Amino acid sequence: MAAPAKNKIFWGSLVHSKTLDELEYLHDTAVAVDAAGKMVAIEQGAGDVAKAVETLLPRLGWAEADVDVVKAKDGQFFFPGFIDTHLHASQYPNVGIFGNSTLLDWLNTYTFPLEASLSDPAKARKVYNRVIRKTLSHGTTCAAYYATVDVASTNLLADLCLAAGQRALIGRVCMDQLSPAYYRDESPAAALAATRASIAYIESVDPGMKLVRPCLTPRFAPSCSGPLMRGLGALAAERPDLPIQTHISENKNEIALVHELFPPSSTGAADDSYASVYDAFGLLTDRTILAHAVHLGEAEADLIATRGAKVSHCPCSNSAITSGAARIRWLLDKGVCCGLGTDMSGGYSPSVLEAARLAALVSRHVAMGGDEHAKLTVEEVLFLATKGGAEVVGLQREVGGFAVGMDWDVQLVGLGTVDAEGGVEGVAEGTEEDGNVDVFGWESWPDRVAKWVYNGDDRNTKKVWVRGRLVHERIHS
Ligand code: GUN
Ligand code: FE
Repeated sequence: MAAPAKNKIFWGSLVHSKTLDELEYLHDTAVAVDAAGKMVAIEQGAGDVAKAVETLLPRLGWAEADVDVVKAKDGQFFFPGFIDTHLHASQYPNVGIFGNSTLLDWLNTYTFPLEASLSDPAKARKVYNRVIRKTLSHGTTCAAYYATVDVASTNLLADLCLAAGQRALIGRVCMDQLSPAYYRDESPAAALAATRASIAYIESVDPGMKLVRPCLTPRFAPSCSGPLMRGLGALAAERPDLPIQTHISENKNEIALVHELFPPSSTGAADDSYASVYDAFGLLTDRTILAHAVHLGEAEADLIATRGAKVSHCPCSNSAITSGAARIRWLLDKGVCCGLGTDMSGGYSPSVLEAARLAALVSRHVAMGGDEHAKLTVEEVLFLATKGGAEVVGLQREVGGFAVGMDWDVQLVGLGTVDAEGGVEGVAEGTEEDGNVDVFGWESWPDRVAKWVYNGDDRNTKKVWVRGRLVHERIHS
């Protein structure tokens, strides 16, 4: 039985996104977090941790004995937990295994056999436990997961997220056509019944949807029949509190397939775009997370903006399985809300920091195509990884930054500090693991953050909290 949650006061430097292109640096700052994990007070400039605690306790009516104080070491900083807006928990064993495949052959060769095999509960437990632990260790406090077609193991993913303390959207995958006979829904009705069963289960284990919530998940248009998508659209209308996730316009052969399967005459769509197919079935909403969005047309992107649907940018996956370079600046300029997705295992990395780095690099490839304006800055990719992602998953009031009323979903980041002898300060040579980002001490805070984005990894993620609960800690923290 876990100890009852206590009130906490965190003190040190905090860094978070103020806007898309601006980070805010808050030093000598204390944040009081109540036992429910909510930030209830933020106090700046007390001078040191003891004075900050002394100021906050009487104001909050908290007794010192009831409060845990967590102080960041010099040079460390609290940063909002990352939001992974698109990943397949069920594909985690395949990270790095994609050869030279592209989307449609990758699905058939690598993905469907693995996903189907997770109807074995022991295997699903092992895979899901590991993906949760791995993503938490990289600072992912919230993940929009696809599980599989199998209801029992999808529900198990929700149980395991709850137990580990990771915030998550959990999608039972719907697919009733163009998928192998060994891995698909038998009919639209069966898919809808299985979806409802999974929703009911997830709501029963976390009634207020405090940590995990079900997510309607038509895999993508090619693997869903018209009647299934119509049924999911109706369910989305019946349950306006539930998010929706799917894939869009990732690969050119996929798009050709969508044109073939869903001509406007069959759906009543206004035109033959991929987005219009989802729109015709009531699935293009302001709760919809569209992964990839690589090859969108102008009018199609405008339709996405008008509907308020969100985009999960997956630069690791789009590069690995050679889908293309999504034009994120172009989407942002249209007012489309964007976040980052690892898309494991189309993407090979569990790290949203890696996704941020690759978002910066892919935007430079778009820029090299002639549009200098396409480049994304360090500030912008970190916005996508946190505040942008929070809005993509519909949790912008709860997470993504530091403000009274928001939840403490936070990571503590530490970068190495090299001493005069070239070792790492205060630590025997060779033992300090955060020397991977070598900070000399003269860097400005924006430069330190840039070094983290371009060279950092899970060694720099010292501690991770979700709703105030410590859910990950490195040995050398
Ligand atoms: N399109 C349909 N299914 C998938 C999937 O599992 N991964 C990716 N990247 N694209 C998809
Ligand atoms: Fe995907």
